[in-house]
Amino acid sequence: MPAPQWLPAWSRDEGAERVRALFGRTFHDDGETGPVPGTPAGVWSAPGRVNIIGEHTDYNSGLCLPTALPHRTYVALRPREDDVVRIASAQTDEPWTIRLADVRAGSVSGWGVYVAGVAWALREAGHAVRGFDAVIDSCVPFGASLSSSAAIECAFAVAFDDVFGLGLGGSDLGRAQLVAAARRAENEIAGAPTGGLDQSASLLCTEGEALLLDFRPGLPADAFAQHVPFDLASAGLNLLVVDTRAPHQLVDGQYADRRASCDTAEAYLGLETLRDIDPADLDATLDRLAPFDVEDSLRRRVRHVVTEIERTAEFAALVREGLGADGVVDEERAARAGALMNASHASLRDDYEVTVLETDLAVDTCVAAGAIGARMTGGGFGGSTIALVRAGDVETVAAAVAEAFAAQGLTAPGFLAAPPSAAAGRDA
Ligand code: GLA
Repeated sequence: MPAPQWLPAWSRDEGAERVRALFGRTFHDDGETGPVPGTPAGVWSAPGRVNIIGEHTDYNSGLCLPTALPHRTYVALRPREDDVVRIASAQTDEPWTIRLADVRAGSVSGWGVYVAGVAWALREAGHAVRGFDAVIDSCVPFGASLSSSAAIECAFAVAFDDVFGLGLGGSDLGRAQLVAAARRAENEIAGAPTGGLDQSASLLCTEGEALLLDFRPGLPADAFAQHVPFDLASAGLNLLVVDTRAPHQLVDGQYADRRASCDTAEAYLGLETLRDIDPADLDATLDRLAPFDVEDSLRRRVRHVVTEIERTAEFAALVREGLGADGVVDEERAARAGALMNASHASLRDDYEVTVLETDLAVDTCVAAGAIGARMTGGGFGGSTIALVRAGDVETVAAAVAEAFAAQGLTAPGFLAAPPSAAAGRDA
C-alpha cells in the first residue's frame, strides 16, 4: 500500500532563513575586499489559502469562507533608487530583470507577472513604488488551486507596503487596497479573470479563524470581511487537503467561460448580479431563463451560484455556533456542516461542471473512509480537495485516498494539514 505523501509547511523561521540565504547568494554587494553576500532590507511572506465553502461566488457578488494555509511564499527584498526590478526564485539561477516603466499587459511572462503586476498596480493607484532586488521561495504547492499566485502577489504587496512606506498594511481597510492591487495584477497583467477571493484570503485571514467574505459591492470593510473563530483543534477536527496533482489552469478559458455564463444569465434576467436572486424565487427565476437556454446549462450555472451562497451562509452560521469544544465534536452541527460540503461538491460537479475525475475520486474516497464532509476547493478543473475529518481519522482517510489513486494508476496525491493560519506579513 502506498504511504501518503505529506507536504509539510516550513516554519516561519525556516522560510525566512531560506530566502535570506538565497538573497545573499543571488545579489552580491561590492565590499572593500571584494564581493560580499547581499543583505535584504527584510523578509515578508504570504499564505496560500483553502476555501472552506463558497465556490465561484466571488465574481457573483456572493459569499466565500476561506482560511489561510500554514504554507507560505517567502520574499527577501531590498529597495533600489531606480525603477529596475531584479527577481530570482529558488528554482531559477539568474535574476530576471524589467523596468517598472515597461510593465504592461503582455510585457511580462512567467511568475514575474505577479511581482511586476503588483508594483505596477500600486503605482497606477498613485503609490510611490520604486525598483527592487528580490528573491522568493515557497512551500505552497504550485498549480494546485491553493492560491500559489496570490501568495506571491500578497507577499510582495506587504513588502512594498513596508519598504516604500505606503502605510496600508496595518488595518483591514488599508489591506483592502493591497487586495485591490494584487487582484489587478492577476486580472490585468497575468490575464486571469479571477474574483477577489484568493488575494482577500491571503491578506486578511487570521490564525484560528475563518474569513467570511461578502462580495456585494459597496460594503464597508468590516462587512466585507468578517473574522469567524474556527478553532478546529479544540473542536476535535482537522481539515485535510488533498493536492490531487491533476493539472489546473485558470487562464485556459474554462474559468472565463463560467464567468461569461453568469454574465449572460444576468443579462437575460435583467439583473446586476446573480446575488440579487432570492433563493425562495429560484425555481421561478430559472423558468424565466428556459426560453434562452436550450441545453439547460445556464440554469444549472445559476442554480449552483444561488444555492452555494445559501450553503455558505449556513456553514458560516454553524462555525459561529461552534463545531465542537474541549476536543469533543458537536456531532449534530458537524454532520450538517459535512452535508453542506458534500452538497457543494455535488453542485460543482453536476451544475457548475468544474470537477474532474481526480477531485471526484478524492472527495468520494474521503467520505467513504469516514470524513464528515468533503469537496473540491478553488477554481476547479483539477487542483485540490478538502475534507472535514475527526482528528483521530486523518491518517486513515489519507491512506484510503493514496490507495484509491494508486489503484487507478493516477499520480500519487499530496496531503496537507491545514489549521487556519495567519495572513501576509513581515517575518524578519
Ligand atoms: C479561483 C479564483 C477565485 C474564485 C475561485 C472559485 O480561485 O481565483 O477568484 O473565483 O477560483 O471560487
